Amino acid sequence: MSAIKEPVVIHKGLDNVYVKESRICFIDGEASKLFYRGFSIEDLANNSTYEETAYLLIHGWLPTASQLDQFTSTLESYRPLEPEILELIRSLPTQSDPMDVLRTAVSALGSYDPQPMTDDLSVRIDKSLRILAKIPTIIAAFDRLRNQRQPIPPMGHQSHAAEFLYMLTGKEPDAKDVHAMDVALILHAEHEMNASTFACTVTASTLADMYSIMTSGIGTLRGPLHGGANEAALRTVLEVGAPDRAEKYVVDALAQKKRIMGFGHRVYKTWDPRYLILKKFAGELAVKKGQTQLFDTAVAIENSARRHLEGTPIFPNVDSYSGIVFHLLGIQTDLFTPIFAMSRIAGWTAHAIEYLESNRLIRPKALYVGPVGLPYTPIALRSGKVGG
Ligand code: CMC
Repeated sequence: MSAIKEPVVIHKGLDNVYVKESRICFIDGEASKLFYRGFSIEDLANNSTYEETAYLLIHGWLPTASQLDQFTSTLESYRPLEPEILELIRSLPTQSDPMDVLRTAVSALGSYDPQPMTDDLSVRIDKSLRILAKIPTIIAAFDRLRNQRQPIPPMGHQSHAAEFLYMLTGKEPDAKDVHAMDVALILHAEHEMNASTFACTVTASTLADMYSIMTSGIGTLRGPLHGGANEAALRTVLEVGAPDRAEKYVVDALAQKKRIMGFGHRVYKTWDPRYLILKKFAGELAVKKGQTQLFDTAVAIENSARRHLEGTPIFPNVDSYSGIVFHLLGIQTDLFTPIFAMSRIAGWTAHAIEYLESNRLIRPKALYVGPVGLPYTPIALRSGKVGG
């Protein structure tokens, strides 16, 4: 057995480890800047749509009118669910976590894909578009079923954001709500090599199919330190309940070494630029819906946390107001992470495809620090502890 000769550096958390060159996303965490394929997030939020942004991320350029038409028609044709998938969703317990339902349904979609799996990148993209188109339908169908309502098919000829809100509520959404949803989807569509994108990249590097890749991403997104933070952030605001209770909440949380959800980021050491955009939408929706108390409470928590965390690199992130936006759109809290997945599927696809263009199996190492050569003990003589 050969001993390790060189000093080994362990990159726990893989901070500052680069796994590939990329042309998809640039984050300047010191300057509060985010670019998708070179376009600033502010420009995309002001001018683009989720469909156009998804096209940009996946293909690498802003589509022409005919390219965008074809893309949206493809999504429209894929949006309805196979009856078997709907039956599968119906068969799941209504108290299931929607992320479990999403993970299960996306995984099952693979069995109903009529096109055989090939390594052709255009076939991979097509499979991804099937998933991207169907996720809103899956989320909405489950939400309706658990609320004793029948799932409804898409309206047709509407945007991804509008179709989602319609299938969820059964009512044609108004233009302002659709716009807020659309911008939230743009802002969540991509964010470089975060945990779920890395999980997708690892799965892609084994040459697995797109359903396995996306299922890896959904499972990884679920955790409260990643996608789940938006739900936790809103629950905090609801629990605090009023602006005058914010200061006590923040002081107590920090004294107990609890994290303020919606704050802090591995990459941003200043404002997350997505936070600024979402805060504006949250404020406008709060006035429109006549629910300003919730927004004011979030602002009070933010102001108090910023005061107490002054001098640290802990600033508000995308999740500090995304939950407020979704809540004001009438969406149940446990759907926030599925909505994050619904949007991020574009970024996951872009990274998987980019990595596969010059693939290398991702296979890091673990430094073994346990014993070797232990005697194999007969069952009657075992201690029931390590080494025995
Ligand atoms: N509230 C209070 N203290 C915090 C927070 C927070 N939200 N975030 C980090 N810290 C403190 C942490 O306690 C630690 O302090 P100490 O050194 O005294 O132990 C220090 O900052 C460094 O923390 P870390 O966990 O080593 O830093 P990180 O870069 O790994 O943290 C993070 C990134 C997102 C996991 C963390 O900031 C966090 O847990 N935030 C709350 C959850 C959240 O909002 N997540 C959404 C992230 S944005 C969406 C996404 O990209 O998925």
